[in-house]
Amino acid sequence: NWNEDRKRRIRKMNKYDLLIKNGMIHTAVESFEAEIGVSEGKITAIGQNLGHAERVIDAEGMLVLPGGIDAHCHIEQESSTRIMTADDFYSGSVSAAFGGNTTFLPFAAQHRGQSLREVVDTARERARNKAVIDYGLHLIISDPTQNVLEEELPSLIKEGYTSFKVYMTYEMLKINDGEMLDILAIARRHGALTMVHAENNEVINWISERLIRRGYNAPKFHAVSHSPLAESEASRRAIDLARLVDARMLIVHVSDAEAAHSILQARNNELTIYGETCPQYLFLTAKDLDQEGMEGAKYCCSPPPRDKASQEAIWKGLKNGTFQVFSSDHAPYRFDESGKFHAGRDASFNKIANGVPGLETRMPLLFSEGVGKGRITINEFVALTSTNAAKIYGLYPRKGSLVIGSDADIAIWDPKWVRTIKKEMLHDNMDYTPYEGMEVKGWPRIVISRGRIAVEEETLKVDRGSGEFLPRTPAEAGRELPISSPLSPSRNFGAKLL
Ligand code: URP
Ligand code: ZN
Ligand code: ZN
Repeated sequence: NWNEDRKRRIRKMNKYDLLIKNGMIHTAVESFEAEIGVSEGKITAIGQNLGHAERVIDAEGMLVLPGGIDAHCHIEQESSTRIMTADDFYSGSVSAAFGGNTTFLPFAAQHRGQSLREVVDTARERARNKAVIDYGLHLIISDPTQNVLEEELPSLIKEGYTSFKVYMTYEMLKINDGEMLDILAIARRHGALTMVHAENNEVINWISERLIRRGYNAPKFHAVSHSPLAESEASRRAIDLARLVDARMLIVHVSDAEAAHSILQARNNELTIYGETCPQYLFLTAKDLDQEGMEGAKYCCSPPPRDKASQEAIWKGLKNGTFQVFSSDHAPYRFDESGKFHAGRDASFNKIANGVPGLETRMPLLFSEGVGKGRITINEFVALTSTNAAKIYGLYPRKGSLVIGSDADIAIWDPKWVRTIKKEMLHDNMDYTPYEGMEVKGWPRIVISRGRIAVEEETLKVDRGSGEFLPRTPAEAGRELPISSPLSPSRNFGAKLL
């Protein structure tokens, strides 16, 4: 019919589904002026005068960046004490999209006694009909039985679950050093990456018991009990374990100078040790926990925010290559009995649910305070919030880059948009934001996910459940050992025993 004919003629004239014009493109390595043509969800052209498209976006005065990848967030996940996060895959992904993200990587968390397969099936089912942006899943391993190590992990890695987090603290999650070595060995053999929550559990318990015995129960003592030494000791130990078996490792949510230093030092010694940090270590301090009543509970996360000097050290680490990844560690527990106060309104600091929300504010905060204030370049911003995560976690070049053939995951940023962060403007399911009242300059106006406009004019444009699962590629599986003689004693001797 006439209408169909007309549509066909228009489609023929338009080379692209979508064309982004007049914007400045910024990747992790360069900045340049060009148009981007998108067809069937992929970037199919980058250049000048690309022609016509069904939809043209005029990005005059805007920055055209790869969509963000939030590589650390807890979504529809039970904590070690079995409290459910406030965000499910719908609210979590919507919030992420409004903050400029087009991919996120939550966790499928194993609790002791559970099979990993069961855990993964549950997480996939939870995500399937809800996520609005694409997602991969890391595993959390708390019970590395022989079956988990020898059967489940190798087959799950092959299926695209190529990274797993382990905990050195939290009573119900922590593994011991021997178990960590077992996990690192499997990761090395199959090309997976081990992410480590590095805090010394014994140190934290030892201090906590003494504080509580003296009646020091308030939220501010959370920061006292989680000493920076507990973090730096555990980070060094974790790095040495990785070194023993020549495995890759990423230390997550680093809060302090000493732990940061050991990561940089390890990489200077040519070990593949990566570092991640988060907004809470740049924009909060232990003073935020020291407030009237239980208000400080809003800022209880582990490791805790430290002091001004630590903030400076973390900024330095973002600049000097200590950290490759800047993630939110979005761990949303509401300021009520369903979350923070699951153990009661007057519970002592060590019974308050750990974690802060931050999916939607992660990129605007770093953009405003980092790029806007000249602490990092726009290209470093792209690397830290998107490209490096894609590379480290096996999503590159499909995600995290603006090149021909990659998914058209694009955030169009207005660098002049000034907003005051308020809980009401955010799209997560939380009842507070730790950044309430902070003024930021720069926020994405349009977010594009696989060529689809996901967010525009402060409105969600994509359907519930339209995000896709991303199986990821393992790295360097079965790589050769860098040791020539199997008998020469060396520091990574353990690698010969795998
Ligand atoms: O306090 C935090 N970070 N809670 C979330 C779980 C974790 O350890 O990352
Ligand atoms: Zn953690
Ligand atoms: Zn976390």
